[in-house]
Amino acid sequence: MANTAAPGPGPAHSRLVRLIATILLTLILLVAVTVIVIWLVVKPRKLVYMIESGSIHSFNLTNDHLNATFNFELRAYNPNSRVSIYYDRIETRVLYDDSTLAFNNVQPFYQPRRNVTHLGLNLVATNAELFPDVAKNLRMEKMSGEVELEIRGKAKIRFKFGAVKNHRTLRLLCAPVMVHFSSSKNFERTPCEIDL
Ligand SMILES: *[C@@H]1O[C@H](CO)[C@@H](O)[C@H](O)[C@H]1NC(C)=O
Ligand SMILES: *[C@@H]1O[C@H](CO)[C@@H](O)[C@H](O)[C@H]1NC(C)=O
Ligand SMILES: *[C@@H]1O[C@H](CO)[C@@H](O)[C@H](O)[C@H]1NC(C)=O
Repeated sequence: MANTAAPGPGPAHSRLVRLIATILLTLILLVAVTVIVIWLVVKPRKLVYMIESGSIHSFNLTNDHLNATFNFELRAYNPNSRVSIYYDRIETRVLYDDSTLAFNNVQPFYQPRRNVTHLGLNLVATNAELFPDVAKNLRMEKMSGEVELEIRGKAKIRFKFGAVKNHRTLRLLCAPVMVHFSSSKNFERTPCEIDL
């Protein structure tokens, strides 16, 4: 008798569960659709970076210490027609044999949509101490007239789409960058890999 009269988990309860499940599913679907629509509207495209020229000046490697000025031109292309970019902080380094020779920061800048910006990287090594092996190899490359370098960059950027801003960290790796000591002629453009 008591059994049949027990209210227990009756139809009202399962109706509530079904209602909550329906609301949750609807919310998830709505978020998914919103993300897809935003993605379709923005159509984010990969940023493109390339080292277009490079030269070395005032090179002096004495007693495993290096003085030199490295100049590079970095081409930054934002192919997006709806997304612009704030570069808030850009650190760049030039490496040889996994050793950093010099580093520098680039002035923050704003890159509009569908824009190409050329950045001058001016990296100065001031009495930089090198490992003896690294110095030895670099001396040999200097004698050969050409050196294989690597450029790395790390940037704090903000994507701007309408009123929406999205903070990201961008990492750049440009290698191998072959640079002639005597002239900046015959420079082979080097595309950069990006990690976003
Ligand atoms: C390189 O630097 C050393 C030490 O500063 C100096 O004695 C030497 O004359 C320099 N060589 C050249 C080619 O400038
Ligand atoms: C590099 O330049 C500094 C002065 O700026 C000088 O004291 C040092 O000896 C130079 N080193 C080399 C290897 O030329
Ligand atoms: C790219 O943007 C910069 C900064 O606004 C501007 O000076 C430059 O002219 C633009 N370049 C092109 C190709 O639109």
